[in-house]
Amino acid sequence: MAIKKVAKQKIVAKRVDPELLLKQRMAELAKLPHGKDVNLDEAVAFQKSLPDSRIWWKVMKNLEKEGRMSVFPRAGTPILEDMISLCQELRESGVVLIPMTTDSYTRTGQHEKVAEVMKEVKRTKKPLLNGFPIFYYPLKDLRRIVENVDAAFSPRAAGGDYAIAAGATTGGAGIGFLHFGSYAKNQPVRELVKQGMERQSTTGWWADQGVILCTDLHGWLPGAPFPLTVGIVGLIIEAVTSAMQGQKALYPLVHCMGNMVQDMAWIRLAPRIIREYLDKFGFKDTMIVGCCPCQTPLFPVARHLGGAFAYLCYIAMVGSLAKCNAVDLRSIDEGAGIPTTETHSVSYRAAKWMFDVIREQNIEIDLKGVDLEEKMAEREVRAIMDKLLDLGDGDIAEGTAQAVESGVLDSPWSPNSAVKDDVLGFRDVNGACRYLDFGNLPIPEDIKDFHRAKKAEREAKEGKKVDFYTAVSDLWSLSKGKIVGLPPYDK
Ligand code: 5AD
Repeated sequence: MAIKKVAKQKIVAKRVDPELLLKQRMAELAKLPHGKDVNLDEAVAFQKSLPDSRIWWKVMKNLEKEGRMSVFPRAGTPILEDMISLCQELRESGVVLIPMTTDSYTRTGQHEKVAEVMKEVKRTKKPLLNGFPIFYYPLKDLRRIVENVDAAFSPRAAGGDYAIAAGATTGGAGIGFLHFGSYAKNQPVRELVKQGMERQSTTGWWADQGVILCTDLHGWLPGAPFPLTVGIVGLIIEAVTSAMQGQKALYPLVHCMGNMVQDMAWIRLAPRIIREYLDKFGFKDTMIVGCCPCQTPLFPVARHLGGAFAYLCYIAMVGSLAKCNAVDLRSIDEGAGIPTTETHSVSYRAAKWMFDVIREQNIEIDLKGVDLEEKMAEREVRAIMDKLLDLGDGDIAEGTAQAVESGVLDSPWSPNSAVKDDVLGFRDVNGACRYLDFGNLPIPEDIKDFHRAKKAEREAKEGKKVDFYTAVSDLWSLSKGKIVGLPPYDK
C-alpha cells in the first residue's frame, strides 16, 4: 500500500487573531469548575490594584537594583490553609518569587478526579494530591493566597487566565520546548510552535490591557551532560516568539551543568544574546528582567542529603558570583516525594545563606576560561540561528519547525519521537560538557575540532575510548558528586 505523504503545513510567526484568542480563552474558562467567577474586566482592575511587591517583573527588577536575589522554588499542597502557611514559610525563608505548583490531575484537566480526591483530603486532612489544585477553589478563596503573602506568585505553565484573575503575575512560558524535549512522547514540532504561540498571545492580551505579566523561559533542556548551545537557541526562539505575541517582560533560566567555567559563560551569554535577537526582530520594548541559573533536573537525583544540599548551594553560589537576581532550585528531598514545609524551608535557607554572604559581597570574579567558553558557545548559537532562519526564509516559527525536522536543533536522550536524537555529549577532563556526536548541528568545523581534541584528551588520560558507555556513565556525574572521570559504580 502506498503511504500517503502528508504535506507539512507552513507555520508563520505572527500575532494570533485577538478575537479567535478570546473565544478560545472563554472556552477554556468554561471548562473549569469555577471559571464563571472570572470577569476579565474585573480581573484587569484587580491586577492593577496589586502592590509592586506582588508583581513578578517589578520584584525581579527591584532585586536586581538592590543587588539581592531570591530562590524560585516549586511548591504546592492541596489544602488552601496549608498552601497559605507553606507560602508564608517560604516568604520567611527569603523567597519572594513563589510558585503555585499544581497537582498532576489539575495539569491534565481531570477536574472530577480532583474533586473526588479532595473529598478524601478533607476527611483525612492529608495532602493526597501532589500539588495545589488551583481550579478546585472559587476565585475569591484563591485570592486569599495573594492577600496573605507578601510575594509575587506564578502558576507556571498551568493556571491560565484563572490564576491571573487570582493575582498571579506571570504568564506564558516560552513555546514549550521544556515539555517537547523532555516530557512528550509524540508531540510534533509544528503543533508545539503553533500552540505555543497561541498560549503566549494570552500574555500579550494582558499586556495590551496594561497588565505586564512576566515570563520565565526554559529553552530546550539539555537533559544530560551536553553543551547548553541548543538550550540557548531555544531561549532565543522563545523570547522572540513571546515578544511577537505582545509579551513585555521575560527572563531566561540557564541550566547549569556543574562545570563552573561553562556555567558562568552561559549565564553571561544567554541574556546578552537574547537581547540582541529581540532588538534585531524589532522588540526593543520587551524587557529582560533578570537571569535565573537553575538546577538541571537530575537523572538520577543526588544520592544523599549532603549531595542534595551541595548541589543547590552550588547553583546558589554560581548565581551569587554571576550577580543574578534569582535561582531556580529544588528542595533537598527532590525525588523522594513532595517536600514538607520543613524541607522546603531548610533548603532555601541554605541558599539564602549564599545570597546574604556571597551575593552581597558583590564580588568581581574573573574566572580563567570563561571568555573562551562564552565565545565558542556564542559562535555555535549563531551558526544554528543562521541556519534556522535560513531554513524558514527569515520566519522564526517555520525555521524552528524545519530545524527540528532536520536535526539542526537536536538533543540527546529525548523521549519525543519528533526529536532526531542524533547527538550525544560527554564530560571532558575538567568536567566541561562536550559533543561526542554532533548529529546535524551546524557547528563550525574549527569548533568541532576543539570538541574532538577534548575527547582525545580524556581518552589519553583514562586509557580507553570515550563512547556511548562514557556518555551513559557521565549521566551520573552530578548525582554522585564526581564530575571528573568516571563516577564510582558502588554508590
Ligand atoms: N512541591 C514541590 N515540588 C514539586 N514539583 C512538582 N510538584 C511539586 C510540589 N507539589 C517539582 C518536581 C520537579 C519540578 C518540575 O517540580 O519534583 O522538580
